[in-house]
Amino acid sequence: GPMGAAPHRQLWALLSPERGRCVLVAALMAASVLGGVAVPYFTGRVTDWVANEDEVGAALPMALLGLGSAIAEFTCDVAYAGTSSGALGRLQRRVFATVLRRDISSLQGTGTGAVTARVTGDVEATHAALAEALSPLLWYLARGLCLLLSMAWVSPRLAFITLLALPGLLLLPRAVGKVQQRLSRQVQDAWAGATKVAMETFQAMATVRSFAYEAEAAKRYQQRLQHVYQLEGKEAATYAANLWASGFSALALKLGLLCYGGQLVATGAITTGDLVTFLIYQMAFTEAVEAMLHYYPNMNKAVGSSEKIFEFLEQEEQAAPVGTLAPDVLQGHLRLEEVWFSYSEHQEPVLKGVSLDLHPGEVLAVVALPGSGKSTLASLVLGLRPPSAGRVLLDGHPLSAYQHHYLRSQVAAVLQEPVLFSRSLHANIAYGAGSWHQEQVVMAASRAGAHPFISLLPRGYDTEVGELGGQLSGGQRQGVAIARALLRDPCVLVLDEPTSALDAESQLQVEQEIFGASRAGRAVLLVTGQAALAARAQRVAVLEGGRLHELESPRELLRPSSHFQLLLQGRGQGGTVG
Ligand SMILES: Nc1ncnc2c1ncn2[C@@H]1O[C@H](COP(=O)(O)OP(=O)(O)OP(=O)(O)O)[C@@H](O)[C@H]1O
Ligand SMILES: [Mg+2]
Repeated sequence: GPMGAAPHRQLWALLSPERGRCVLVAALMAASVLGGVAVPYFTGRVTDWVANEDEVGAALPMALLGLGSAIAEFTCDVAYAGTSSGALGRLQRRVFATVLRRDISSLQGTGTGAVTARVTGDVEATHAALAEALSPLLWYLARGLCLLLSMAWVSPRLAFITLLALPGLLLLPRAVGKVQQRLSRQVQDAWAGATKVAMETFQAMATVRSFAYEAEAAKRYQQRLQHVYQLEGKEAATYAANLWASGFSALALKLGLLCYGGQLVATGAITTGDLVTFLIYQMAFTEAVEAMLHYYPNMNKAVGSSEKIFEFLEQEEQAAPVGTLAPDVLQGHLRLEEVWFSYSEHQEPVLKGVSLDLHPGEVLAVVALPGSGKSTLASLVLGLRPPSAGRVLLDGHPLSAYQHHYLRSQVAAVLQEPVLFSRSLHANIAYGAGSWHQEQVVMAASRAGAHPFISLLPRGYDTEVGELGGQLSGGQRQGVAIARALLRDPCVLVLDEPTSALDAESQLQVEQEIFGASRAGRAVLLVTGQAALAARAQRVAVLEGGRLHELESPRELLRPSSHFQLLLQGRGQGGTVG
């Protein structure tokens, strides 16, 4: 059918953790449906008793059943709402988590729109499927089946007649409705056409006049209008036919049932009460079938959207295999092999075959002019973007092979424009996986030179960054970001202009921390545009035109006639050095 099996199964799988509640919902639904069916039965019995002037003993069970059925229906609705929102919340979290796992380049540009549509629009549509279409659809289905069975039980012959009349009763009005819809669209088009003729004529009035075309123009407009009126006549006729078709077939069925049922009562095949019961059943049954026909297309539409979500999740989950490596001992040997990278296919590559080896205990400074790809290189080393070609290896394995949390605890970064979240300073430093003690956080902040300013704040480490708003200076923000990176004591530390905004004292503190890496056995990749800072590293490489050249010694960087110095002077930016 139009509804593929897969999305249904997936929607069903989505509900599976709430299986117990689903059973409860099903039981309540059955109870309410059965109660609903039992009421007409007792109505029939009451009729019989009244006809035979018996005691009216069925009134009490009838009232109780009606009440019980209503309570069951209400409880069912509540339980169902809880179940579906639980399932939906899970789906939303899964979609969100999947989006966060994508590499960041796919979230830029047009990607963001599609992804946002998945997270908001399609999830909402699936919610509609679960909350607004699936539950009534199931309820009416159960009710319809139950009513049909009861009808057959009261009188198989009358039930058969009802079934025979069903296509005429439901499908005919639908078919006529479709024709009517098409006609009303045609009427709208025809009106638009007539208006267009009028507009054209008015706009070209001068031409119409100068060629004495007035009469012809009027005639053309007249023809268009006639076409519209014809179509409108047809539409009105189908509307009437539609009303007539549904009204008449319902009436015909009722008359037929009454005549035939009356005969059956006369011959004693059924009682008067049976006939009353049956007629109530029949009305409820028609109503249930109508409701199903109403909800089915809605359900279909919603299933279409959920299909898109499941497709997206499947694609993503296949596209990005989750890394599993988490060795107890990581040396921290970083290696780039012929790494190429460009932001888009049409753009000149930013990195053109960059290779480097960085061993534990070493500090490698990569120095380059602004815009030559330093931050790009840093994001590749962090695995935030995949290389277009080549490999980024950590202890011989590609970054993607490592378990996500493990990798983030071993490779830490201070990005060029650090982002703080609107939480406390403590939470910002201890951001990410793992939990940390206050002393550890304070220690990290001291090493990053951020402790002095934090301890001056009235609420210290509990100060909300959101409260501070823009009051946190660039340097303070950088200090917090450095503390965040140092806290987890990583094997590999990637720093992108870490000291650019710091005051002299903090700068000294941080530099001590960076260049003391050999003692800590840490590999540090320091990416900077400041030649004086880079010159303090053990090894220095210059990134130029997408290629990386390592200098023989860091001192070369500061020699007035060195390549980098000449490069700077050529750009007229000698002033930024030192
Ligand atoms: N998200 C992006 N999409 C497209 N192009 C980008 C993107 N980010 C950077 N670029 C381009 O890539 C090149 C390198 O940028 P990158 O940010 O790596 O330079 P940088 O060396 O860090 O510069 P700076 O010293 O100013 O921080 C630049 O030409 C830049 O325009
Ligand atoms: Mg940069």
